[in-house]
Amino acid sequence: MSEPAQPFKVGLLGFGTVGAAFAELLEERADEIQRFNGRRPTLGGVLTRSRGDFAEILEEADLIVEVMGGIEPAREYLLQAMRAGKHVVTANKQLLSQHGEELFETAREHDVRLRFEAAVAGTVPVVRVLEESLSATPIERIHGIVNGTTNYILTEMTRGSSYEEALADAQRSGYAEADPSDDVSGRDAAAKMAILARLAFGTPVHLDQVQYEGIEHLHRDDLEYAREFGLGLKLIGTAERRRGGLSVSVHPTFLYSGHPLAAINGSFNAVTVESETITEITLSGPGAGGRQTASAVLGDVVSVMTGGARPPAPPLPLELVQDVESAYYLHLDVVDRPGVLASVTKVLGEHGVSIKSVVQRGMGENARLVMVTHPVIDSSLRTAVARVGEFDFVSSTPRTIRVIEEEFV
Ligand SMILES: NC(=O)c1ccc[n+]([C@@H]2O[C@H](COP(=O)([O-])OP(=O)(O)OC[C@H]3O[C@@H](n4cnc5c(N)ncnc54)[C@H](OP(=O)(O)O)[C@@H]3O)[C@@H](O)[C@H]2O)c1
Repeated sequence: MSEPAQPFKVGLLGFGTVGAAFAELLEERADEIQRFNGRRPTLGGVLTRSRGDFAEILEEADLIVEVMGGIEPAREYLLQAMRAGKHVVTANKQLLSQHGEELFETAREHDVRLRFEAAVAGTVPVVRVLEESLSATPIERIHGIVNGTTNYILTEMTRGSSYEEALADAQRSGYAEADPSDDVSGRDAAAKMAILARLAFGTPVHLDQVQYEGIEHLHRDDLEYAREFGLGLKLIGTAERRRGGLSVSVHPTFLYSGHPLAAINGSFNAVTVESETITEITLSGPGAGGRQTASAVLGDVVSVMTGGARPPAPPLPLELVQDVESAYYLHLDVVDRPGVLASVTKVLGEHGVSIKSVVQRGMGENARLVMVTHPVIDSSLRTAVARVGEFDFVSSTPRTIRVIEEEFV
């Protein structure tokens, strides 16, 4: 009779949406994993606030999966596990975007694996692609739709809903939490872009260094005008080389229909990687969800079992650049009278803002001037728009939204 397979014990920290789905998936997939791996992954113990003991779970485990969320005690448990020589898998973007270097260094020091695919873009396997397939490719830019909740809301707004209606719909359908503030403020996407930037450019980026802006202030109006320019609206995270440094940000952004991210709708996530050698690669797939996230976590467990990639190399120092260049959409509510357009374009021109296209709608007290600019440095645009806002014929605060000009198809 053959020997029973040696178990590979997984200690599970957290048994909520992701943890419970992970335990179920592990049981479903254990036979298949054993068939190609030789060892059988089994649940070694579960920790919640009311169940299990961390020290006992750690003692028994070959690997720790952390799906509790939050900073502490998740950080301390992962550090303890790695110091004890155990591999770790986590889905915790907040933790990695604030304490990533400490965790990576501990993993290197103790020669253990630290995997975190589920922390970045739902089921989209971008971490592995950056670490392995593109490890020798000098990356210029990453654009990502890395938050499924906001992409769902913006898709609904494009179909005619107001922000409030779309958010309520997302909450009813389970795409948004009761407290959606981390998603709609852009903070969740900012954490994911900090992690992606570290992987793609080798430079540590703390969540606090990512400039981010959410979708709460967007108007249905803006989407309607943008359609006239052939633009669609997404919450886009960007990490790119700029002026010898690195810029990382998250903003609502208009895209032309030829950009690969323009076609990503509903709760899907997608990441575009640009480099001179590969031109552009786009990966897309379902965003968050218990079973989908658990599947990415289980993929990481199998990657560790088969000896997958080491933690990121020690950091490279690239300066973080804040004031970058972008094209902009500009919306002005104006009183329609002779000379308005000329006055606006004169002030914009004085600050180096040149206009690519413009439409004017309405009459009398309720006219609107909507334009798309050529690329301009953010600070120049902000100064120019502040001056335009001072004209007595401008009747509300001007609104600006970034525009990505590149189209690949
Ligand atoms: N949900 C998703 O779709 C998704 C997608 C990608 C990534 N993630 C990440 O996955 C992680 C888990 O998310 P989730 O949605 O599964 O969260 P959740 O449903 O709130 O579950 C959290 C679990 O962790 C346990 N826990 C929390 N604090 C603990 C503590 N101090 N000590 C012991 N146990 C503790 C909770 O135990 P109690 O039940 O006793 O409170 C619960 O079992 C987070 O980092 C999240 O960002 C989630």
